[in-house]
Amino acid sequence: MCGIIGYTGKNKVKPIIIDALTTLEYRGYDSAGMAVYNPDKKRTEVYKCAGRVRDLSKVCEDKNIDSTCGIGHTRWATHGGVCDANAHPHTQGSVTVVHNGIIENYKDLVEEYDLASSLKSETDTEVAAAVLDRCHAETGDPKKAITKAVRKLKGTFALVILFDGEPDVIYSIRNVSPIVATLSEEGAMLASDLTALTRFTNKYFVVPEYTIVRMTRDSVTMWTLDGREVEPEYLTMDWEKNSADKNGYPFYMEKEIMEQPKAIRDTISGRTKAGIPNFEADNIPDSLFTDCERICVVACGTAMHAGLVFQSLVKTRLQMHIDVEMASEFMYSDPVIDDKTLVIAVSQSGETIDTLEALKYARRKGARSLAIINVKGSSIARESDYVMYTNAGPEIAVASTKAYTTQLAVFYLIVYKMAHIRGVMDDDEVRECIRNLKRVPEVIGSVLDGRKAVHVIARGLLEAKDLFMIGRGLDYSILLEGSLKLKEVSYIHSEAYASGELKHGPIALITDNTPVVAVVTQERLMSKELSNIREVKSRGAAIALFIKADLIQQSTREFDTFMLPNLPDELMVFPASVALQLLAYYVSSDKGFDVDKPRNLAKVVTVE
Ligand code: G6P
Repeated sequence: MCGIIGYTGKNKVKPIIIDALTTLEYRGYDSAGMAVYNPDKKRTEVYKCAGRVRDLSKVCEDKNIDSTCGIGHTRWATHGGVCDANAHPHTQGSVTVVHNGIIENYKDLVEEYDLASSLKSETDTEVAAAVLDRCHAETGDPKKAITKAVRKLKGTFALVILFDGEPDVIYSIRNVSPIVATLSEEGAMLASDLTALTRFTNKYFVVPEYTIVRMTRDSVTMWTLDGREVEPEYLTMDWEKNSADKNGYPFYMEKEIMEQPKAIRDTISGRTKAGIPNFEADNIPDSLFTDCERICVVACGTAMHAGLVFQSLVKTRLQMHIDVEMASEFMYSDPVIDDKTLVIAVSQSGETIDTLEALKYARRKGARSLAIINVKGSSIARESDYVMYTNAGPEIAVASTKAYTTQLAVFYLIVYKMAHIRGVMDDDEVRECIRNLKRVPEVIGSVLDGRKAVHVIARGLLEAKDLFMIGRGLDYSILLEGSLKLKEVSYIHSEAYASGELKHGPIALITDNTPVVAVVTQERLMSKELSNIREVKSRGAAIALFIKADLIQQSTREFDTFMLPNLPDELMVFPASVALQLLAYYVSSDKGFDVDKPRNLAKVVTVE
């Protein structure tokens, strides 16, 4: 979950590290640090503190750091509390390390190497540094030291290492936790994720697992643990150079909400031919969708919520068996998976460890796999048989927005594709659906244009401690996401409930201090939804209603209402989701919170 950066090149390293760590802060933001080689003193110096990257900036403000080689880290605590001593980098002897992941056997290593008295922190990382230092002392060679040390480490790790005797050289090795790297005119650079590299280059490579990387200012060399040299396989990043900037918005979340029309357009684009879904550019054969008898979606958080919308569509349109599983529960629930199962792993980052492990498990059981991913070349993308990329561009805010709606767009394309090739819908029906899907960006645009009205509704929720979100069918599916969004950025306890289920318990919690957000976009469910809304209203709840324009009637005018522009009911999830994202955003920003970095969260969850 932590953010990692390493640079060795022509330029001064301090601003590069601070800049990159600021970009990577969404991975974790409880502490930050950097290590640079001081050529005058001929040793590595470490600056670190609990707090944000801006605090680290202050720590090194008046330090004369001339170095052109260094490593940096922004932390999401796993082992040891949040304090200066536990912040990375960690130095032991001649070795300085930053780390992402978990060294599971760190306690055994402390005993084996008798490290207890020399450790200055409570972290597993410092133990890895100590083991590397011991191996360095024994072998006298960084490569040999890394080879020996990693054979001792159990768990997941991305380690970036400085050895005192080798100024201007950065080493790295990883297992599971990602590292991407590049070599440009400016020098060599590596990072935990692509967003940190976008300003420097559009070429990068993914460091293969258990491969030693040695970077100097004008070279990158890699070896397997048995000493064989490996060539980097360069990929091209299609993100625009400044796509990871805020572009004048106060928060990334707002910027990313506003980017959705383009993101969805870019995701649909190139995936239809003559009005019919066509996945030739993704190299996906039709047989992937015709040979399966059941579908299983594995994902976490927001991505899992996108899967729930897909589940409704698959049932309605295809009448197929589909499960949507929380990836963290999947493996331990003895899931029914066989070679007739199509497993779809969904992930913005492509690095969520639970989703990755669930996918690996399903493949071992014989399932065919498709990944829906935003970050090219990420671990889940590489693990899956097939990949469809959501072309959302970098998503930096911890609360996911454009990744979600682009995941939905891919799911709609898949459903229409499957309905077509499985003979459930004819050409004309599919063309009509695709025509409507292509209207989604424009319709979202009009929700965004009307965002002031959502802001007004948000102001009515600022004092709420608890809140319910209610709806039926597809509305309920998107409310799960809307509710997650609100709770993670505003810290209001929010629960999404199927409207009809509310009276089987939770209605006991409804008082005049419990606002209820209701979404009504499905005509066939409308009258029942409105009855449920009245049930809570008559118990004192203030209602904020998000309703499809065509469904507004005299009786709904009594509520605080936001009118959602019309699309066929099946597609109303798009404007409704965007309106709920705006709601969460405004509540959080009006409360003065750091919208992009909610308490305790991280964007990329690489620990189980
Ligand atoms: C974290 C993020 C969520 C995200 C989830 C899954 O919890 O804060 O926004 O939905 O991980 O991430 P993924 O990258 O797999 O979509």
